[in-house]
Amino acid sequence: MKIGSIHTESPVFLAPMAGVTDYACRILCKEMGAGIVYSEFVSADGIIRQNQKTLHLIRFQEEERPIGIQIFGNSPEVMAKAARFVADKFQPDILDINYGCPVPKVTKRGAGSAALKDLHLMDEITAAVVQSVPNLPVTVKMRAGWNSTSIVVPKAGERLEKVGVKAITLHPRTAVQSYNDKADWSLIKELKQAVSIPVIGNGDVSAPYRVVEMFEETGCDAVMVGRGALGNPWFFKDSLALLHGKSPPVSPSVTERVEICRRHLDLLLEDRGERWGMNLMKKHFGWYIRGFPDAAKHRRALVTALELDEMKEELNVLENVAKKLVC
Ligand SMILES: Cc1cc2nc3c(=O)[nH]c(=O)nc-3n(C[C@H](O)[C@H](O)[C@H](O)COP(=O)(O)O)c2cc1C
Repeated sequence: MKIGSIHTESPVFLAPMAGVTDYACRILCKEMGAGIVYSEFVSADGIIRQNQKTLHLIRFQEEERPIGIQIFGNSPEVMAKAARFVADKFQPDILDINYGCPVPKVTKRGAGSAALKDLHLMDEITAAVVQSVPNLPVTVKMRAGWNSTSIVVPKAGERLEKVGVKAITLHPRTAVQSYNDKADWSLIKELKQAVSIPVIGNGDVSAPYRVVEMFEETGCDAVMVGRGALGNPWFFKDSLALLHGKSPPVSPSVTERVEICRRHLDLLLEDRGERWGMNLMKKHFGWYIRGFPDAAKHRRALVTALELDEMKEELNVLENVAKKLVC
């Protein structure tokens, strides 16, 4: 699988997810076989103002490559400047533009999926970004349209390809749908047939077998996984096994979950320090610690821990419980 000059063995990618796909999460998914990982969406305005919190979202480690940095904004000039800044200062492998975010705070300002209402503006923003970073593949992640009466796929895809975009990720819901109804995978197939650049399918790939289904149903070049990977970096290993015709995966044991929680916590502590690291980890415990006897009780103990020692001790308790459960 190639995007511009970037090559990846694994055609299963980790979706950008704000507040989730930070360094710790990305590295664990990468180790389990994610082909390309992405930063969460980062404001172009914040980048050009060199807001430190914004720039912190872009930092990544060499072992995360190939990595895409995703930016959003409503002005061709600002987006072009931000793209150039990211390319010069951080040298990611891919620069991705967000035309999918349906959150009113973003769309009210004409950014994210609001661009789907004005394909001329989308062309202008995209062309400006492509021209500003001639040595970096520019990709787009988009939804199917603003609402059900204004579906822009595959037309928008053809225009984006003409402007110089090197791959398109499609989450085939409209902005108005947000996360309701089913993602319409037939639109991924339509887009794939309309363009010659790689198409990355996304939406409702909730289990590893759905990766295989998406490839078969749509003919897409890669599959991007979001919510299915929350608390489940094994998703990538399992879906690659299925793609290679190996036997269906077994769910990770509680012992394996505890081990990955320890690793995740350590990575967050290293990246964010004790207070932030502990707080961020609490969200992930909610996803890791589920699906086994008394999971809710252990989860509660982990998310209410006030001190790091307490949190680590609760992981030890859970490990001992797991040994007795033999699961
Ligand atoms: C918590 C959360 C944060 C998200 N943040 C972003 C983001 O920053 N950029 C983006 O393009 N999509 C974002 N998305 C959308 C996902 O990348 C993906 O398109 C969507 O969840 C559908 O895929 P899934 O069904 O595999 O989850 C986010 C989704 C979630 C659940």
